[in-house]
Amino acid sequence: MTEPLTKPAAGSTPTTSGTAPVVVAIDGPAGSGKSSVSKAAALRLGYGFLDTGAAYRALAWHALAHGADTSDATAVLEVFGDFDYAISLDARDRWVRVGEVDVTAAIREPRVTDAVSGVARVASVRHAVNELFRRLVASAALPGVVVEGRDITTVVFPDAPVRILLTAAPEVRAARRSAELTDHDAAKVAAALHQRDAADSTVVDFLTAAPGVEVVDSTHLDFEQTVDAVLSVVDNTMGARDGR
Ligand code: DC
Repeated sequence: MTEPLTKPAAGSTPTTSGTAPVVVAIDGPAGSGKSSVSKAAALRLGYGFLDTGAAYRALAWHALAHGADTSDATAVLEVFGDFDYAISLDARDRWVRVGEVDVTAAIREPRVTDAVSGVARVASVRHAVNELFRRLVASAALPGVVVEGRDITTVVFPDAPVRILLTAAPEVRAARRSAELTDHDAAKVAAALHQRDAADSTVVDFLTAAPGVEVVDSTHLDFEQTVDAVLSVVDNTMGARDGR
């Protein structure tokens, strides 16, 4: 894996003092809205945005491109050897590349979604990818980065000043997912979501808040209210930290 490319977020102020960016770590299950909420929060804060699931998706895409069996850990490790991954941290200009190929759209295809749990399950892959996330954030010339993904508050950035678990009731998460996918009926989406939660939760516990992690439950909140709730956690936590 080569050193990843990153682009600073447009309109954000690069840090000149060499201080590491503030990390806002956001965990949550599928359909909790964590990706879109995290991105909106990053834009409002003038921070960068790191969608960590994109790395696992890009690796699944890479494995499929090599005809590898994504349910076989050895096969996944083999293709991981030449996984050349790059991602933009700019919330306004998001892209994901594997080598020279722009895979921003391709990693959202159902065939990739179906394969991704297999690659995300491989412990040594997780270890290397987590290191990559820490390097990406540490080297970003940004005041802060909102980092979103399943084990971000517990494993990847357990010491982040702001850590949030974004949740919603299972039926609300399934309804949101089916609204995003027009050709799926709600029952199928609920079943698929349940299956992914079950597969992913064997690897990381993303349904329970670890000590010190703030829960934002969006069951009864609309999108803007959820973003506001996240921003008020950021404000309160940073305020308390800075003695405001
Ligand atoms: O959030 P998403 O649907 O793009 O995530 C894709 C897959 O990667 C999903 O199976 C969960 C997994 N994932 C993970 O295990 N750890 C992360 N930090 C982010 C995603």
